[in-house]
Amino acid sequence: MSWDVRVLTIFPEMFPGPLGESLAGKAAADGLWSLRTVNIRDFAPDRHATVDDSPFGGGPGMVMRPDVVHAALESVAGAPGPVIYLTPRGRPLDQETVRGLARGAGMTVLCGRYEGVDERVLEAHDVVEVSLGDFVLSGGEPAAIALIDACVRLLPGVMGAEESLEEESFQAGLLEYPHYTRPAEWQGRRVPEVLLSGHHENIRAWRREQAERVTRERRPDLWARAVARI
Ligand code: ADE
Repeated sequence: MSWDVRVLTIFPEMFPGPLGESLAGKAAADGLWSLRTVNIRDFAPDRHATVDDSPFGGGPGMVMRPDVVHAALESVAGAPGPVIYLTPRGRPLDQETVRGLARGAGMTVLCGRYEGVDERVLEAHDVVEVSLGDFVLSGGEPAAIALIDACVRLLPGVMGAEESLEEESFQAGLLEYPHYTRPAEWQGRRVPEVLLSGHHENIRAWRREQAERVTRERRPDLWARAVARI
């Protein structure tokens, strides 16, 4: 069964973009997932294809009109999965949410521009607001690409090495340990001896320690949660 994404945007030419390359591109070519763009502008009622208007109450920027966004959402009504609106106001995205989405049948992603989307259409369609983090992009499209990429790599059959996913679950909630490849010495810097030892148990223990150290040092918030789980 294919995992199907609809992207509602006023910039359909931004897609598939990076999703047409590499792992995600190959997986789409293999029929494991599909992406369809819906041009919100096609649902504008006037011949100038106006999708936005000035905000009630004044202020800078423009707001996407509820009637136009509604019509675009209606055009994909009945499609499986949640409707996700990418916005810095949303719930911060994490790997657990990504896993949940990847286990489902797909999703509809609404990309906003301007100052945002009229609140009423978000309410009317039970839209789930999701943020990539505490920074502001000029629109939802790059965020949509990141969200879709994170989901697609988890779909069954997509990751070449299933081991990579196993390794991720071994490391659940921790940041990655440091990686090294040949040469064993480069510009006077040596690869940690344990990695050259061939002793798998010691290597595993070293990697675990390193992952814990990096997490503790860089992300005390993640570390506190990881400790609570152990
Ligand atoms: N749109 C604009 N900024 C965003 C962010 N930080 N996350 C998700 N969508 C966005």
